[in-house]
Amino acid sequence: MTDQLTIRRPDDWHLHLRDGAMLAAVAPHTARHFGRALIMPNLVPPVTDMAAALAYRERITSASKGFDFTPYMALYLTEDTPPETIHAAAADDAVIAVKLYPAGATTNSASGVRNIDRVIPTLEAMAETGLPLAIHGEVTTDTVDIFDREKRFIDDVLDPLRQRLPELRVVMEHITTADAADYVASADQGLAATITVHHLMITRNHILAGGIRPHFYCLPVAKRSRHRDALIAAAISGDPRYFMGTDSAPHTDEAKLSPCGCAGMFTAPVAMACLAEVFANHGHLDRLEDFTSVFGAHFYGFSPSEQKITLRRHEEPVSVMPVIEADGDQVTVFDPMSPVHWSVDDESQK
Ligand code: NCD
Ligand code: ZN
Repeated sequence: MTDQLTIRRPDDWHLHLRDGAMLAAVAPHTARHFGRALIMPNLVPPVTDMAAALAYRERITSASKGFDFTPYMALYLTEDTPPETIHAAAADDAVIAVKLYPAGATTNSASGVRNIDRVIPTLEAMAETGLPLAIHGEVTTDTVDIFDREKRFIDDVLDPLRQRLPELRVVMEHITTADAADYVASADQGLAATITVHHLMITRNHILAGGIRPHFYCLPVAKRSRHRDALIAAAISGDPRYFMGTDSAPHTDEAKLSPCGCAGMFTAPVAMACLAEVFANHGHLDRLEDFTSVFGAHFYGFSPSEQKITLRRHEEPVSVMPVIEADGDQVTVFDPMSPVHWSVDDESQK
């Protein structure tokens, strides 16, 4: 069995870094392993214009000082985002996507889009300029079961939108269902998907069977094993339309372990080790590099990194990472509750 694997430095095409003390605490955990990341804009208040995006980018750059790490920004789409903002973003290399949150779908999405018809002129500007739309693909209708919200979004919102604006480049973020993987596979152009580490490792049983485990609660919520298996098949397929976005989304333990806990898992420190485990267990370590370091870069118009990281396999499972501290608060690191035998070599951590 391979015990060492050197690959191009990976990129994370869906990442939450937060701000302030949390940003300072979590940014190095990404910057150590990843060369670039697409930073999600769901701060309070959200990052809706160029000035806010560029200021946030500066704060991230100082929080990741000492590492060779470049953040790229996504703007938060609201029903008031003018087409001019899209033209300004398309003209600036710092912003590479616009994020669509259906209002109420997830953490800090209240300023998101209620009615897609209201943002059509803005989306037309995106189709014209080629700026991709990164979509949180879930309907928010109360009457739709939470496990069905991704599929309903594809049928009711995404497919009609893509037929209306076939030139719009779309990334379905953090897909969680076989339906989404199939939908991406069936598209002839302009559609890709990110897949997280945790959705390749857990099912809804992790959240609910044998006790409720809030650290596994994220959105879109993990589904049954058939869907996880479809995501694994997509990730290891070598199809360039699927690439990694961790959706690493830190919350304090206090916010997670509450009667109404927050959605999101902090996976960044263990993401590469966990992915090596998944790809190795499915006989496709040879395709890890494309998934983590090549396909996403190509989608966003970059060359894959010339730098390398080395992953090493250990005989015994590696131990779970300790909690990290953010200004006195604790943040729990993702533990898949299954053995992980891999780690990233220290000398490849910059
Ligand atoms: C994310 C967060 O906490 O910002 N939470 C999550 O469960 N994934 C938001 C998101 O991407 O949905
Ligand atoms: Zn996210």
